[in-house]
Amino acid sequence: MVEEKNLTPQQIVRELDKYVVGQKEAKRSVAIALRNRWRRLNSREEIREEIVPNNILLIGPTGVGKTEIARRLAKLAMAPFIKVEASKFTEVGYVGRDVESMIRDLTDLAVNMVKTEMQERVKEKAADAVENRILDILIPPVTKKGVGFNSATSDSDNFDPSKASDNELNERTRERFREKLRNGELEGREIEIEVKSKKTPMMQMFGPGGMEEMGMNLQDMLGSMGKGNKSKRKLPISEARELLLEEEAEKLIDHESAVQEALERVQKQGIVFIDEIDKIAEPSTGAGKSGPDVSRQGVQRDLLPIVEGSTVNTKHGIVKTDHILFVGSGAFHVSKPSDLIPELQGRFPIRVELTSLSEDDFFKILSEPKNALTKQYEAMLETEGVEITFTKDAIRELARIAAEVNAQVENIGARRLHTIMSSLFDELLFAVPDDINSGKITIDPDYVAKQLESLVKDKDLSHYIL
Ligand SMILES: Nc1ncnc2c1ncn2[C@@H]1O[C@H](COP(=O)(O)OP(=O)(O)OP(=O)(O)O)[C@@H](O)[C@H]1O
Ligand SMILES: [Mg+2]
Repeated sequence: MVEEKNLTPQQIVRELDKYVVGQKEAKRSVAIALRNRWRRLNSREEIREEIVPNNILLIGPTGVGKTEIARRLAKLAMAPFIKVEASKFTEVGYVGRDVESMIRDLTDLAVNMVKTEMQERVKEKAADAVENRILDILIPPVTKKGVGFNSATSDSDNFDPSKASDNELNERTRERFREKLRNGELEGREIEIEVKSKKTPMMQMFGPGGMEEMGMNLQDMLGSMGKGNKSKRKLPISEARELLLEEEAEKLIDHESAVQEALERVQKQGIVFIDEIDKIAEPSTGAGKSGPDVSRQGVQRDLLPIVEGSTVNTKHGIVKTDHILFVGSGAFHVSKPSDLIPELQGRFPIRVELTSLSEDDFFKILSEPKNALTKQYEAMLETEGVEITFTKDAIRELARIAAEVNAQVENIGARRLHTIMSSLFDELLFAVPDDINSGKITIDPDYVAKQLESLVKDKDLSHYIL
């Protein structure tokens, strides 16, 4: 069984630092919450069930890293993670029980996660089986037929020397081909294999979650309907191997225990990120109980049992939500956390405010994280043989422009960096590789100015483009 990685709070913060600039408080809180879950799992049994996770409310303007922090946290913990928009549950057509769909989706995700891990573990065994299957297709074994025939009649005395040498010959040829396969000499050769045909998109016939709520296992139903549907395909060995590997790995894992493990993991380690939770809060200054407000409260009431701890029926089994970690997030510009119904407020005891990002933060975000945008563009152009480098001053200039446009047009936080970078590179990305297919390009302040100056100066343009 794969254990939750036991990072200490400080290790967690250090890991998050690799991707998220600033927001120390938020990182600290999520690190503690995650570690607390490990602490709970390792606590004395009598008290274990009593300890509830410390759900967190991340409060802050748009584009400052709320989602990013939660996503990175889940990755670190190797925990099942799902992000839902709270506001979607207020849309027409979503009623009541649909809030539970987040748990069902999380469970589906966990099952896939566990199965993938299990398949990874049986990879070698599966590869052996696949090698034999491919060999069977290339050089069908005579031995099997021979044995079958022999055992039907009396055996040892009708020993057939010609058949024996056939067998030997066959065996030798197989071994020769095994060598060739292993040396990659046969990758391009086409073989015919039987593959399960892809599932038909029949799901779409049913409404969201409709069948599931009736307790029917749609996937299984479709699965068994589709079972007979094997089709023959001619493929190069390199591709056939991929398909067969999937099939063999699937055969080797124990689905029942995969599901059990997944259920356990969801219940002990699951993280649900509820975005835009402020959108279901009722602003106290609001114009009374109009339609949408009522439904907002309704969503909060539906959410409450799940966050408080209840059981949800999923197609894989029952999931207890008591120890799932919920991270709520929102800007809370119009409404405040205190506008949520008291019971729900109580379930998000840790409140962290994320700060707006400064020009200095933008500079760091552009250059420091492992996945920094400058590194992404470098990597993309590298594939075309073009090497780009940014001067420090150019990055400073980009940060300055981002801050300026945020101040003048709309503050969308670090998301501004994405639009600015894509404008900056628009021309180059179109020119490569047709006009430019090698060499080095230095992105300096002049280059930045040339690409962006007109956009920044023209308010209308920056409205639409930056
Ligand atoms: N502090 C930060 N460090 C590094 N990158 C950041 C930071 N804040 C935001 N980003 C980048 O900006 C983008 C948007 O961030 P994110 O999705 O976390 O915003 P958010 O706070 O969840 O906003 P919203 O309230 O609109 O959902 C992401 O690509 C993210 O990588
Ligand atoms: Mg977000």
